[in-house]
Amino acid sequence: MNALAFAATSDALKEYLAEQEQKPLLRFITCGSVDDGKSTLIGRLLYDTKLIFDDQLEALERDSVRHGNAGDAIDFSLLLDGLEAEREQGITIDVAYRYFATSERRFIVADTPGHEEYTRNMATGASTADLAILLVDSRQGILQQTRRHAYIASLLGIRHIVLAVNKIDLVNYDETVFETIANDFRFFTLDFGFQTITAIPISARYGDNVTTASQNMPWYQGPSLLGHLETVPIADADLNRPFRLPVQLVIRPHLDFRGFAGQIAAGRVSVGDRIAVTKSGHTSTVRSIVTADGNLTSAAQGQAVTLVLDDEVDVSRGDLLAAAEDRPQLADQFMAHLVWFSSEPMMPGRSYVLRTEVDSVPATITALKYQVDINNFSHEASKSLHMNEIGVCNIATQSPIAFDSYKDNRTTGNFVLIDRFTNATVGAGMIDHPLRRATNIQWQALDINKEARAALKHQKPAVLWLTGYSGAGKSTIANTLEKLLHAQGKHTYVLDGDNVRHGLNRDLGFTAEDRVENIRRMAEVAKLMTQAGLIVIVSAISPFRSERLMARDLFDEGDFIEIFVDTPLSECTKRDPKGLYKKAMAGELQNFTGISSPYEEPENAEIHLRTVNHSPDELALRIAQYLAER
Ligand code: ADX
Repeated sequence: MNALAFAATSDALKEYLAEQEQKPLLRFITCGSVDDGKSTLIGRLLYDTKLIFDDQLEALERDSVRHGNAGDAIDFSLLLDGLEAEREQGITIDVAYRYFATSERRFIVADTPGHEEYTRNMATGASTADLAILLVDSRQGILQQTRRHAYIASLLGIRHIVLAVNKIDLVNYDETVFETIANDFRFFTLDFGFQTITAIPISARYGDNVTTASQNMPWYQGPSLLGHLETVPIADADLNRPFRLPVQLVIRPHLDFRGFAGQIAAGRVSVGDRIAVTKSGHTSTVRSIVTADGNLTSAAQGQAVTLVLDDEVDVSRGDLLAAAEDRPQLADQFMAHLVWFSSEPMMPGRSYVLRTEVDSVPATITALKYQVDINNFSHEASKSLHMNEIGVCNIATQSPIAFDSYKDNRTTGNFVLIDRFTNATVGAGMIDHPLRRATNIQWQALDINKEARAALKHQKPAVLWLTGYSGAGKSTIANTLEKLLHAQGKHTYVLDGDNVRHGLNRDLGFTAEDRVENIRRMAEVAKLMTQAGLIVIVSAISPFRSERLMARDLFDEGDFIEIFVDTPLSECTKRDPKGLYKKAMAGELQNFTGISSPYEEPENAEIHLRTVNHSPDELALRIAQYLAER
């Protein structure tokens, strides 16, 4: 292409893009599985709005004949499946966003691979959605997953619902079937606070009522799906809400410029406004608002800006800039609705990474207040959440985070929880409110601190954390080690799992949940003891990596020394000092580590002790040497 032609096309392209930009944007999500026709529906929307490239179209026609399930017709689900296959070869992403446009509007639909659990799609892709399409199969009607999706949509603050009653062709376009399903849905969502519920009988495969009115259902007078998407009211940005700017980046090209960049999450900001840095509480005045298109005097929700302030206040990535007179919450404990995605159940007491729009901190669920029974939306007592379950819980973060209630601000009020080892998103939450106990309790500074207490004892406090199977030799080594250190004049204490379970942890058993809590308490006690200046020897199976990491995080760098007491299970079973393996193998003891409950070996323990062929004296000495060299 010569330069002139390129300029011409690029002008036309610019014009086209500018024209597109002017159109209102509707964001929506689709909920349902491939079986409900989700892929087919999205495929058809893209096809009918001409957003498929010619080469894709040819391939699609070819594949439809070869592999499709739609007879002679084009099988639209193949289109998405093809895109998914491409996507799966690349990086895995939770949600894919598909764009399409008509002469009226632009659309963004959040979509996940059909085989994935779609509650994840909803909760991670939906906090900006205006509308949700809930797909049901006419032959099946409202299923439990429909109830769940409707409930989550309401939790997420989605105000418009389309109930797409699909495969209506398979029930002979029967009006009664449609009406029954629509009424069922309306009935159970009465209290969900939806602004509009629009039920549409469709056949995604044949296109009935998808983009044009169907000839097969004269009894249906309502809009086609696309017609509805083009006209449903889109909420205007509420610019009267207090200003919020999550800081994505601190820009400091040279000493004279320091700007805080991000996308305005709510409200508007003008030069001269007083704003506060939520975490530090410091305030300043907006000096200038810098954007890619030059400086502005004022900017509003949705715009990407860089703010320059009058004062040298300390702001970092993860801070939330806010209207000084109307600030967000700042707390390290709050109540939230939580939707769980992972096949590993949620574990109160376990440490997850909590990620908000900008911030990322370790967090634990301190209490599961109740679980929502999706059949009747009642509140049930529960110890844990399993995949797709929804509950209300209290959450504690390691340090305070800035947020708003989700009902006030969907951007600054949502979060996801991430597994610390697999990095998988395991849950998504909507913050209800900070816990009063968090805001009413302050840290009491003491003049005699850890260093002062340690100095008096002439030692450097530490935690020696022995982990390994029952019968591995932890307690024996701990005992020998303590005698050794004691003889050296060290001030020590042994926290032994069995012993602590006689008192402080008497209420705990050996379920995964109880072990998490057992370790959390032992770690907290060990922490208090190091604050008191002691060298603490912890001896506990502590089978889970997550909790050992959680314990490690409580201590200063270098103070937590993980020691893997590595005795093969076969050897422990042979030694069986308490006769517990015998019982466990006979099925008389539940959840026994190594037999009916997992043990996750440490990967980066500071000290790795192989007990076979080494005496406890020898091993204890090795630990003492490590301590001395520290
Ligand atoms: S932990 O897994 O929560 O860290 P902890 O070290 O406190 O366990 O307690 C383990 C001790 O409890 C074992 O040494 C054993 O004596 C006893 N015990 C009783 N039941 C079990 C069980 N189901 N699994 C493991 N240990 C058990």
